[in-house]
Amino acid sequence: MKKGEKSRSATGTFLTDIKEIRRRARQHLSAGAVTQNYEGKVEDTVALLNHAVATEIVCILRYKFHAVCATGLASEAVKAEFAQHAKEEEQHLDLLAERINQLGGKPNLNPDGVISRAASEYIEGENLVDMIKENLVAERIAIETYRDMVRHFGNKDVTTRVLLERILAQEEEHANDMHDLLVTHEGRPMLEK
Ligand SMILES: [Fe+2]
Ligand SMILES: [Fe+2]
Repeated sequence: MKKGEKSRSATGTFLTDIKEIRRRARQHLSAGAVTQNYEGKVEDTVALLNHAVATEIVCILRYKFHAVCATGLASEAVKAEFAQHAKEEEQHLDLLAERINQLGGKPNLNPDGVISRAASEYIEGENLVDMIKENLVAERIAIETYRDMVRHFGNKDVTTRVLLERILAQEEEHANDMHDLLVTHEGRPMLEK
């Protein structure tokens, strides 16, 4: 085989593929971003993402409650942290809802049944340390859920996986923030698992 022959034939195959990709893209235009090589099952993806939507709603509400109701001299910085997290959970919610819409699904923002669709819980907590602990627990639940989802999507739906990885990274930061606050306000390091 002469030099360059292999790459020419590889280019040829690619060009044929491009024609096929263009042809297929023109079909089923109503499917929007979901093309024929989408390997996931769209309804399942939407259902899974809607569970995450509910989890984020619960997290937004819990952080907002804590941001308003945390009391005590030491709590101004903690309140600010809770408020910041509430904003970031809202961004997660937006990202998930946009992705669901891109896939042709409907984000479930119906308040009815949110708590039963969510993985995290809405717990008010009796005092500042309780609040921090509840948020840490919720973040750990979110981390486990997102990590499982990232594994589930793998290469089947790369866009959704990458989106979830971004959210997961921020949930890990949140857990770390809550852990730091707990150490500061409880006055002892949390070495036990
Ligand atoms: Fe979140
Ligand atoms: Fe979070």
